[in-house]
Amino acid sequence: MSNNTENQFDNKNKAWSARFSEPMSELVKRYTASVFFEQRLAPFDIEGSLAHAEMLSNVGVISEEDFINIQKGLNQILEEIREGKFTWSLDLEDVHLNIEKRLVDLIGDAGKRLHTGRSRNDQVATDIRLWLRCEIDTDIDLLKNLRIVLAQLAIKYHDIVMPGFTHLQVAQPVSFGHHMLAYAEMFGRDLERLRDCRKRANILPLGAAALAGTSYPLDREKVAEILNFDSITTNSLDSVSDRDFAIEFCSVASIAMMHISRLSEELVLWMSQQFSFIKLPDRFCTGSSIMPQKKNPDVPELARGKTGRVYGDLMSMLVLMKSQPLAYNKDNQEDKEALFDAADTLRDTLTIFIEMISGLEVNALNMSNAAKKGFSTATDLADYLVKKGLPFRDAHEVVAKAVKECEAQSKDLSDLSLEEFKKMNTMIDSDIYDFLTLEGSVNSRKTIGGTSFENVLAQANAILSGER
Ligand code: ARG
Repeated sequence: MSNNTENQFDNKNKAWSARFSEPMSELVKRYTASVFFEQRLAPFDIEGSLAHAEMLSNVGVISEEDFINIQKGLNQILEEIREGKFTWSLDLEDVHLNIEKRLVDLIGDAGKRLHTGRSRNDQVATDIRLWLRCEIDTDIDLLKNLRIVLAQLAIKYHDIVMPGFTHLQVAQPVSFGHHMLAYAEMFGRDLERLRDCRKRANILPLGAAALAGTSYPLDREKVAEILNFDSITTNSLDSVSDRDFAIEFCSVASIAMMHISRLSEELVLWMSQQFSFIKLPDRFCTGSSIMPQKKNPDVPELARGKTGRVYGDLMSMLVLMKSQPLAYNKDNQEDKEALFDAADTLRDTLTIFIEMISGLEVNALNMSNAAKKGFSTATDLADYLVKKGLPFRDAHEVVAKAVKECEAQSKDLSDLSLEEFKKMNTMIDSDIYDFLTLEGSVNSRKTIGGTSFENVLAQANAILSGER
C-alpha cells in the first residue's frame, strides 16, 4: 500500500481539483453531485470495475498483483455498502469517485490504476445499462406473472357473463374471462416491447473512455463477455452520449402503465355501487375518516394517478436529450431520477397488481343482470332473423321495435312471449329463446378471438402453458 495517496482526493476533496484555485460552495457541491440519488448503481459500478480491471491485467496494462488487490478492495467495498457501513461523501460528487477514493484508501496505488483507459463518461453509461438490464429482467418476470394471474382468473370465471360495452353503453354479452384476457394481450405486447428494449440496452459502451476511445490496447470484447453484454458499441462519441435505451425503457413503462391505468379505471367503476360487479381484497382498499360505510379502491386509483408521473419521466428524458450536442454533457446526470422513478413505479405497480388481481372476486348475478338490462342480445335476435332469410336492414328494424316494446313494458327481450314475437315477425319460432339467453349469445361467438367459453378456455390455457 502506498503512502502517496493523500493529495489525490483531498485539498478541495475532488479527484480533479489540482487545477482549480478556489473551493466550491456547499450549494454548488449539492447542485452538481449525484451521489445521494444514484447509490443503487454502486453494485453495478463495482461489477463493471472488476471486469475492466480483469481485462487490464489480461492485456498487460496493469499487473496481475494489482488486479488481485483491486478485486479484494472492491469486494470489501461491496460488502461495506451492503452492510450500510460505507460512508458516502458529498465532496466526492458521485458513486464512481466515492468508490474509487475508498479503493485507493484500502489498496493504494493499485486503486489509482483502475481508472486507466476509462472515463466516468463510459463508466456511468455502462453502470446504467447494467442496472437497467437487471430491472428489465425483473419486469419481464412480473409481466409474465401478471398474465398468468389474468389467465387463471379467466379460467375460473370463463362462464360468468357480463355486459360488453362500447361507448360505455351495454353492447353485447361477453365472458368475464374474455375481458380479463384482453388485458393479458396488452401485457403480452408490453412483454415483447421490454424484450426488444433489452436488446439495445445490453450493449457495452465501456472502452469509449471520455469520448474518443483510448490509446490503451483494451480488449472490449473480453469485458463484454465478462459482463454478459451481447455486443459492444461501435462509435465512442455515441457510446458516452446515448441515452436512447433509457428513453425506450421509459416509453415501454409508460405504455404498460397506460394499460394498468385502463384496467384500474374499470376496477374503480366495477367496484362502485352503481356497477357492483367485483370485490377487491380489503388490503388494497382504504376507508374514509368521516364516512364509516366507505371502502375506496385506493390502489387502482393510485395506479391510474401514477401513470401520469411515468409519462412525466418519459417527457423529462426526451427533453433532457433534445438539445445536447455530442458527446457527454453533465445534463446527462439528470437522466437518473426520472429513469429510477419510472422503473420503481412500474415494478411496484406490477407487483401489487399481481396480488390484487389474483384476489379479485366477481358478483356474477349483478353482471348478468346488467347484461340483460341493456338488451345485449338484440344483435342475436337480428342475426336469428337474417339466418331465417330476412335482409339484415329489415331484421334491424324488427329488433328496434322489439326493444322499444320491451322498454315500454320494462322487460328483457327474453321475457317476451312467442305470441308477442310472432306479431313482430312470423318467422320467429320457439327456438328463439336459445339465442336470447346470455350464454347462448356468448357461445355463438366461436370465431378465433371471439368470446365463447370454449375460446376463452383455450386462450387462457395457451397463456398458462407458455405457448403465448
Ligand atoms: N455523475 C456523472 C453522471 O451521472 C458521471 C459522469 C461524470 N462525468 C464528468 N465528466 N463529469 O453522468
